[in-house]
Amino acid sequence: MASSLLTIIEPVNKPVSADPGDGLGRLRDNHGRVISDLRVSVTDRCNYRCVYCRTGTDGAQYSELPIDDYLRIIRVFVSLGIDKIRLTGGEPLLRKGLVDLVGEVAALRPAFADDPAAKLDIALTTNGHLLEDLAAPLHDAGLNRITISMDAVDPDIFARITRVPGSYERVLRGVRASQAAGLGPIKINAVLLRGFNEDQIEAFAKFSREENVIVRFIEFMPLEEDRTWTPETVVPMDEIIGRLNAFRPLVALPPNHASETARRFTFDDGLGEIGIIAPVSNPFCGHCSRVRLTSDGKVRTCLFSQSDHDLVGLMRRGATDEDMSAWIRAVVMRKEARHHIGEPGFLKPSRSMVHIGG
Ligand code: 5AD
Ligand code: SF4
Repeated sequence: MASSLLTIIEPVNKPVSADPGDGLGRLRDNHGRVISDLRVSVTDRCNYRCVYCRTGTDGAQYSELPIDDYLRIIRVFVSLGIDKIRLTGGEPLLRKGLVDLVGEVAALRPAFADDPAAKLDIALTTNGHLLEDLAAPLHDAGLNRITISMDAVDPDIFARITRVPGSYERVLRGVRASQAAGLGPIKINAVLLRGFNEDQIEAFAKFSREENVIVRFIEFMPLEEDRTWTPETVVPMDEIIGRLNAFRPLVALPPNHASETARRFTFDDGLGEIGIIAPVSNPFCGHCSRVRLTSDGKVRTCLFSQSDHDLVGLMRRGATDEDMSAWIRAVVMRKEARHHIGEPGFLKPSRSMVHIGG
């Protein structure tokens, strides 16, 4: 489909501006969804090899853009109405220049806010390995929120999943450094994998209560390099809720906003917060507000897209910001209605999670 769009990207010498000024309003798709959330993968390298994500051996080709290219692309997306940026990877803390990028993004203003003092919401998803030293500089550069992936709260299980000995202790120090730096409330993402960590559910509930963090359990999706996913490997939401309720009665909390992906809970004494993200058993595609940029500069309109759209190629051919805006509008208009996990004929996506970015 990209080729049909190439006609609108002939190099032209228009002045570069951050505002498309095209009067078309906020970025939206053909299904009536306003697209407000851009996830940018700043590298596809990672220092972990989580069993549900990477293969055990490293034969991959890596591909990333200069930091200034991510910044230009983010600027154009912001001019179209994106007001939430999440930086991801691979592992984003491996990327030199990340703190400066956060500072530059924090200086942008949302294009469609009534309040002139409104700011972008800038978040980061990390495995936490390098966070102890980076939490404070990231906060000072303007990072608002952080999500740390932790798939166990037990050192041995943790190392069995990440395949890096000693990783648990380091990540725990990163969590605490983030709290101290003022990045709270911190979210912890735990992907549950049958046979690996479903016995950690109660331990995570305790962890949430003791460390004052939001623990979010995520159903395993077929996005891994090793293609190990089967319906049986998923620990479904109902089972997670059942186990948590047996640990201590859950109390439902309201969603934070309309495109919230997590069902939120606390316990009967108000201590701790749990989120359950159930893309497999309870898909939330109907109010998806997201679009993604891969580390090599491709736009993906869905985690499960069968192809991606070469935005950086367009840029390299001399496109102006206006050309990029028009192209992005056309690509996003064709965002998929939903995923088809678990349905007959489901095709795994063209790229795995480490290349797409969470
Ligand atoms: N299914 C569900 N979640 C995944 N993540 C990575 N791979 C998968 C998968 N196959 C999670 C990571 C991280 C977030 C970006 O996505 O653990 O928290
Ligand atoms: Fe790295 Fe995240 Fe994949 Fe683990 S899940 S290997 S931390 S990219």
